[in-house]
Amino acid sequence: MQKFLIVGGNRLKGTIRASGSKNATLPVLAACILNGSKNIIHEVPILKDVAVMKDVLTYLGARVVCEGSTFIVDSADVQPVEISEDLMRRMRASNLVLGSMLGRFGRVKISYPGGCQIGSRPMNLHFKGMQAMGAVIKERYGYIAARAEKLTGADIHLDLPSVGATENLMMAAVLARGNTTIRNAAKEPEMVDLQNFLNKMGARVKGAGTDTIKIEGVRPSDLHAAEHTVIPDRIEAGTHLVAAAITGGEVTLTNVIPEHMEPLLAKMREAGVDIITGDDYVRVQGAGQIRAVDIKTMPYPGFPTDMQPQMMALLSLAEGTSIITETVFENRFKHVGELRRMGADIKVEGQSAIVEGVERLSGAYLEASDLRAGAALVIAALAAENGTILENVTHIDRGYERLETKYNALGARIVRVHD
Ligand code: EPZ
Repeated sequence: MQKFLIVGGNRLKGTIRASGSKNATLPVLAACILNGSKNIIHEVPILKDVAVMKDVLTYLGARVVCEGSTFIVDSADVQPVEISEDLMRRMRASNLVLGSMLGRFGRVKISYPGGCQIGSRPMNLHFKGMQAMGAVIKERYGYIAARAEKLTGADIHLDLPSVGATENLMMAAVLARGNTTIRNAAKEPEMVDLQNFLNKMGARVKGAGTDTIKIEGVRPSDLHAAEHTVIPDRIEAGTHLVAAAITGGEVTLTNVIPEHMEPLLAKMREAGVDIITGDDYVRVQGAGQIRAVDIKTMPYPGFPTDMQPQMMALLSLAEGTSIITETVFENRFKHVGELRRMGADIKVEGQSAIVEGVERLSGAYLEASDLRAGAALVIAALAAENGTILENVTHIDRGYERLETKYNALGARIVRVHD
């Protein structure tokens, strides 16, 4: 196991360049399956989850060459082989190959990706949309088998704006016969990035970023190789902003799209954090007193659930009482117990956490349960007096590239220990 030893108390100062978005990269890599050509993807973050998606694509027959943050993905030899259970279990988002495999081959068999720490993560909306397009879906013994002679365009209304279901259905619809409309679609910026990549390869997708996405089915011969640069990671960048704020530091984030971070920036400003934005940078400055605020996580453009744990760490030291309500996932308060070990005063009532701000946090022996909860505990430890030992930091590596290196360059004191 790997752990971080963290000594808090230093203010973070300096500049961090955000990496490419993990949650844009994963669907874009899955979409490379569709065109059977050589695709070039830039700004790919070096993360464990991306490495798993690379392994899944390679297992399916793609040739993936990594040159730094550029991936060359040649999907000419991809075959609809059955993806093994252990590979699927390594990352839930491997389910994103469902749409592109079904769209290109008319059949796919994957192991059910299973739930994780933050919730059961069902796929019923993915299946409902594919069934509407003519697919027959069989789920048994932990496997999902989907077949369709040829997908036909359909009018699909999602019960809720699922990110993964929107992405899978966008990809499945690219080669379907006729037109598909996805209503109540997710509106996250990663949907727009996927649309842009699909259109670069010859697909005809429009409306991403709104709640209605329209896809005009094309023929396989209409698709060709594409080159794409993935958008910056708004959640990684947001995490760094909170780390700067909790230490009273001054940090500039570069390679960001401030508009994508607006829901978070608005809430941080409400909490009294002094934030300046430019065209492609965001800066946190000053060590003002953090004020309590109420947060309710919602699909984009609401407050992002992936920033909920990090904001809870910050609000643990705010003046006043904050109420944080998690509406997206049913079990995303695993970090509460760990923050309380540091002296935070937090009570969970149903889907809400009541956070009474305290004067200070103290270092403790902690465990990371998932990538965002782990990041929240790093943030809390940076502000805590004395030392913290944080176990299971490989969770953090799933979504953050060399987090300790980035923070130590700003004055943090984090050592990674390999047991
Ligand atoms: C994506 O997960 C992200 N992952 C998550 O980021 C993010 O938290 C989530 O969207 C919400 O923004 C990637 O993009 C790889 P959903 P996804 O389908 O697609 C329910 C991170 O930290 N639901 O929008 O799995 C589901 O149970 C990760 O980077 C159904 O009920 O999220 C959840 O409660 C964590 N049926 C809610 O919808 C379905 O068929 C949102 O899930 C699908 C989803």
